Amino acid sequence: MQVEQLTCAIGAELVGVNLADAIHDDGLFARIRAALLEHRVLFLRDQNISRGEHVAFARRFGELEGHPVAGSDPEHPGLVRIYKNPEQPNDRYENAWHADATWREAPQFGAVLRCVECPPVGGDTMWANMVLAYENLPDHVKTQIAELRARHSIEASFGAVMPTEKRLALKAQFPDAEHPVVRTHPETGEKVLFVNAFTTHFTNYHTPARVRFGQDASPGAGDLLRYLISQACIPEYQVRWRWKPNSIAIWDNRSTQHYAVMDYPPCHRKMERAGIVGDKPY
Ligand code: SIN
Repeated sequence: MQVEQLTCAIGAELVGVNLADAIHDDGLFARIRAALLEHRVLFLRDQNISRGEHVAFARRFGELEGHPVAGSDPEHPGLVRIYKNPEQPNDRYENAWHADATWREAPQFGAVLRCVECPPVGGDTMWANMVLAYENLPDHVKTQIAELRARHSIEASFGAVMPTEKRLALKAQFPDAEHPVVRTHPETGEKVLFVNAFTTHFTNYHTPARVRFGQDASPGAGDLLRYLISQACIPEYQVRWRWKPNSIAIWDNRSTQHYAVMDYPPCHRKMERAGIVGDKPY
């Protein structure tokens, strides 16, 4: 297996590997897992694997979970279908920098995404290294956010386009989660900037040290949160991947964010994602 680094910040392409082999080959799987921790997102071309093999490979990392809004393949629970077609104008939910499912108490460990069908050009996906984003923050901002916690909401994201009753039912099933603004990567010990498009507000900002008068709370917190969320947009932290059918991306959802570029209507795009259960951030 060759590991070819794609940018200075994040991402590597694995060459000379068939992912189906890694389902049973412990040594090969261990090398892929180590490369994932080092490069945060891995890419492969020409992986003509079945849905069963896709799921079996992803399960080597851990249990899989579906998505309450995007449906799964009926024969392969946990294999989420991200099928976009131009006749569904509301179908734009991926078009923001995010880490998957941070609205859960335990957001995903990572995912294995396969391209089934893509436009001839466009429809790329970008990833950002959120460890680097944290490291490069000014020291005074690091101090300011060290103890902050924030709310992440499926209601305010996927739920926003739903009729009220359906949105409230979604919220009842998946209440907003609270996470540290800076999480610690459970395997590497790195600090990660952990706010994204699912984050609605800080939950412990309004203290006497930060807020002199009540009026300061809202703009102060809002400006800081927007500034932190915007860090994923910095090109020096990013890699951009151009899809072909049977291309695959494997990412560490704990230390990255991603953005699926929606520049391809009226073309169709079909992706299938096996999302791997993660643990509670600390
Ligand atoms: C996702 O947001 O997990 C899907 C990314 C993509 O469709 O490229």
